[in-house]
Amino acid sequence: MTEWHKSNWRNKPRVQMPDYTDAAALAKVESQLSQYPPLVFAGEARRLKQQLGAAGRGEAFLLQGGDCAESFEQFSADAIRDTFKVMLQMAMVLTYGAKVPVVKVGRMAGQFAKPRSAPTETVDGVELPSYRGDIINDLAFTPEARIPNPEKMLQAYTQAAATLNLLRAFSTGGFADMSRVHAWTLGFADEQDVQKYSEIADRIQDSIDFMGAAGITADTTHEFSTVEFYTSHEGLLLEYEEALTRLDSTSGKWLAGSGHMIWIGDRTRQPDGAHVEFCRGVQNPIGLKCGPTTTAEDLKVLMSKLNPKNEEGRLTLIARFGAGNVGEHLPRLIKAVKEEGAKVTWVCDPMHGNTIKSATGYKTRPFDSVLREVRDFFGVHQSEDTIPGGVHFEMTGLDVTECTGGVRAVTEEDLSDRYHTACDPRLNASQSLELAFLVAEELTNLRRDRSKRATG
Ligand code: PEP
Ligand code: CO
Repeated sequence: MTEWHKSNWRNKPRVQMPDYTDAAALAKVESQLSQYPPLVFAGEARRLKQQLGAAGRGEAFLLQGGDCAESFEQFSADAIRDTFKVMLQMAMVLTYGAKVPVVKVGRMAGQFAKPRSAPTETVDGVELPSYRGDIINDLAFTPEARIPNPEKMLQAYTQAAATLNLLRAFSTGGFADMSRVHAWTLGFADEQDVQKYSEIADRIQDSIDFMGAAGITADTTHEFSTVEFYTSHEGLLLEYEEALTRLDSTSGKWLAGSGHMIWIGDRTRQPDGAHVEFCRGVQNPIGLKCGPTTTAEDLKVLMSKLNPKNEEGRLTLIARFGAGNVGEHLPRLIKAVKEEGAKVTWVCDPMHGNTIKSATGYKTRPFDSVLREVRDFFGVHQSEDTIPGGVHFEMTGLDVTECTGGVRAVTEEDLSDRYHTACDPRLNASQSLELAFLVAEELTNLRRDRSKRATG
């Protein structure tokens, strides 16, 4: 393969990227950004890679979550805090089920650019270019708003830097109050659910009490008062990615400085396309979305391009087939991975294959479909004797009504109450936590089953 350079993607076919009309303005922004400090550092990305490698072996479990699209307008410290907090709560519950460390990765501090299913959008007979995320154009439905504006990259960088600054402060500031685990189940209205989850909550509480009695508290123990929290986003807008890419002097390797992990979306994973070309040359851990149209042949080519040295933790395969489709697609891709002897970390995204339009006109996701996809993902890994390495959710700590269902059932009529997403519907705090309890249950069952098989 030819020597990699951060600009080489420009010679490859690109999809889902804007055509900027003002070349001079674009060049100016790119040159400015390339002088700004990177947001993340190579040592951090390498550490995350190690931890994702552990997730691939079943010795850790990945929790990746956050907004579908971060927005300039809804940017606030409270929103960041609430999502961070729910992720820590989920991580605690998952740790209980998995009995291994949970690797926490936000879809945050850079998740701005969106691939779209159609290049234009029509409302009341008016057709305009689609909204592509705040880093590219505006959500407002006017011709001016939809023109891609390169200057928006500078605002995205600034917002990402401020978000990351707050996340770093929360991570080391003893922020997480882990001792109120019972309060987390209070919102669950269903008696059965409360009972089921109380058992888990009791046990978590017992462990906390036990450790407290032994003198291990947030005041005395570093591990209790600090968490490692990483950032990730889809590496879609390659001008932005290239401008933040730096040569790391320690390793002599390139690093995408925009976030710890970047992923390739289901619409931009062409083996000879620009996005794969860019991602193959940076040392960050790479995610690759796998959907119903991913062929075994393509996956094999992609694995060898993106992870030629077959390193653990380098490549995370994010399965997003849709409820009811996992049994048809996951086994054939697992087979392709086995045939190559490839080291990958399998993760379940139960969001993107389950988007529907509600009768009330909103894009939504039924909680039951989300749940079913997670269960099917675990089921297939159990029968294939492979490792379910993590989960990937679109979620927020805010009390939105964007996905239907859950124990505090959101109905189709409720969607209009607090529907705030700039793009896809997110799980709210209660739905996210409920899902974490359910995943913990799956993990517990899997562990029991495996230890029974090992001893039996
Ligand atoms: C996303 O993760 O927001 C996304 C667009 O996913 P996918 O590429 O899997 O459709
Ligand atoms: Co999305």
